[in-house]
Amino acid sequence: MKDIIEKIKELKKTLGDSVVIPAHHYQKIEIVRLSDFVGDSYKLAVDCSNTESEFIVFCGVRFMAEGAQLLAKKYQKIIMPDLDAGCPLADMIDSQIAEKLYRKISKSCKREIIPIVYINSYSNMKSFCGQKDGSVCTSSNAGKIIEYYLSQDKAVFFSPDYNLGINTARQLKIPSDKIVKIENDLTIEPGKDLKDIRLFIWDGFCYVHKVFTTDDISKLRERYPGINIIVHPECDEEVVNSSDISGSTQKIYQTIKDSPQGSIWGVGTELNFVSRIAEDFKDKKIIPLRNSPCKDMEKINLTNLVQSLSSILDYKTGKGKLKFEVKVHEDFQLPARKALKKMIEISKG
Ligand code: 13P
Ligand code: SF4
Repeated sequence: MKDIIEKIKELKKTLGDSVVIPAHHYQKIEIVRLSDFVGDSYKLAVDCSNTESEFIVFCGVRFMAEGAQLLAKKYQKIIMPDLDAGCPLADMIDSQIAEKLYRKISKSCKREIIPIVYINSYSNMKSFCGQKDGSVCTSSNAGKIIEYYLSQDKAVFFSPDYNLGINTARQLKIPSDKIVKIENDLTIEPGKDLKDIRLFIWDGFCYVHKVFTTDDISKLRERYPGINIIVHPECDEEVVNSSDISGSTQKIYQTIKDSPQGSIWGVGTELNFVSRIAEDFKDKKIIPLRNSPCKDMEKINLTNLVQSLSSILDYKTGKGKLKFEVKVHEDFQLPARKALKKMIEISKG
């Protein structure tokens, strides 16, 4: 491991400013330590778009790298150490299903429906969203984005993560009779009048976050009186309600960082991240609600990172072809970029 880390550092030095390595918070600790910056999905999208390097070696999953490509400058290339690092949540809807559903609910709802797609989705969905004047959102800005459209008296079709949708709806105090769940066979709660619905939510989920239970929280509260519970909003509604705080990975990291020495935290999110928080803040006690790793995030490792950097060097010196490049299909580029930029505009506004 020491040798490969040295090799990566050496390659980074040789490649200099032409390469930047962003890492998502869920990346393994050794990858985060070698990265140039780390963040949640929103922070990474914005920080990547502010870089000048010719090559962005994105350590995260595919939808994040696609987002970086959509926001990149023309001369920049996005490299992903393992192009198969996907996201089962993002696979739960595509633009064909979304179009069909959009037509169906538009017929029954009296308001104009705007699609909001969680960044954990592929570019065909972001493109669908941009075509309909909608926006992408992340776990750090879902409330602001949904509110933006509701305040214009529009209805929202939110996908693919049901939990982020419903947890955000509760924060915004949207009445339950104005919300419907859409099952993935396209059925909508039978008997419900859709005319006055404000929020249609697709029934997707993240398996990593679905495993946490209120029982996990009760056990920790019993064992460690005074413990603080912080969870990601992809967790089930009752888990979020039983926690003290919920938020994006960046919020989780920052909240624990800012907490007093000696504080105890039960954390409901991805395991590699929770382990790194424990490593970074040894003056605090950090306990995962349950051991739940993201198998796709774990596909990025030192071996494929070194291969990516070597391929860039070969390409630059004319010795070989560039490998592991992420390119969003031409047809999706413009509308998907529009939906991503809309998110940044609303978030900053
Ligand atoms: P964040 O945007 O909070 O980092 O979440 C990304 C993710 O994939 C959570 O499962
Ligand atoms: Fe997708 Fe869940 Fe992994 Fe996040 S943790 S990348 S939502 S599978």
